[in-house]
Amino acid sequence: MSPFLLTRTLPEDATEAALRADVLHGLTRTPKTLPPKWFYDAHGSELFEKITELPEYYPTRAEREILSARAGEIAAATGARTVVELGSGSSEKTRHLLDALPGLHTYVPVDVSESALSLAGRALAAERPDLGVHALIADFTAGLTLPDTPGPRLVAFLGGTIGNLLPDERAAFLASVRSLLAPGDTLLLGTDLVKDPAVLVAAYDDAAGVTAAFNKNVLSVVNRELGADFDLDDFEHVALWDAANEWIEMRLRSRTAQTVKIPTLELAVDFEDGEELRTEISAKFRKERVRDDLAAAGLELAHWWTDEEGRFALSLSVAR
Ligand code: AVJ
Repeated sequence: MSPFLLTRTLPEDATEAALRADVLHGLTRTPKTLPPKWFYDAHGSELFEKITELPEYYPTRAEREILSARAGEIAAATGARTVVELGSGSSEKTRHLLDALPGLHTYVPVDVSESALSLAGRALAAERPDLGVHALIADFTAGLTLPDTPGPRLVAFLGGTIGNLLPDERAAFLASVRSLLAPGDTLLLGTDLVKDPAVLVAAYDDAAGVTAAFNKNVLSVVNRELGADFDLDDFEHVALWDAANEWIEMRLRSRTAQTVKIPTLELAVDFEDGEELRTEISAKFRKERVRDDLAAAGLELAHWWTDEEGRFALSLSVAR
């Protein structure tokens, strides 16, 4: 018996309401911003998969290298019976870890994308007849209710996605993860590391232009969902290294002075020639920052593993 359960904690229309609020808020302030979570419609998720295969985009490969080298150590250190994966996507990298946990009772993949969840969840449940899979359609930045399954619990947040949160959002997120854990439970966190800015910028401005298409896709999402008339050719992809904040910033730069109409919001948005809209930050970390941010949330850094080249880190921390 291998139960596959899927629970929707997001109302069907919550996504649309959240998009409207984010677009209204982000495009009526200076400087203009849009949150990165709106990149990931079906097309954006496909583009992201392509990004992970680009020669310039090392984080996915580096993290996979660490996970496959350290799965046994992670399993031994956690003894997890429940693994919760936030932003699980295709669950592909997590297989190493799940396979290394003989006592695993339930895997809880959490994602906003129902299609990704049911595909990956069903495949896994079919492969591991002993394993319960309880997929959650949920926004993990908004507070989660987890199924009642046996501990110890391991929460995994991989891919460096924590870097997409602003510092105050990151602190709130880590505190909410801590609230899901009992003392002794663990967090496995993937963080991209500070390195040569040229290497970082190339990873977000690849020669084939896949990241540029990914970045502009957020405008297609707003066009389709809110009836806006963004012309993608009128915007230029920008990736830059913010040395003071130690993060990569992706922006869309208006190639001309223009007005974009968003009928659903009864809004007209003026862009100056050259005006930039921030679409993503991707923070890069040093070990000290990871340790301090975890400690502030009541999590104690216990293990720190990097790939051979020292580009990316997986940390394991324990709830106090
Ligand atoms: C996987 C969400 C962490 O910030 O590197 C890839 C997203 N943005 N290229 C990242 C992304 C541009 C990615 N995350």
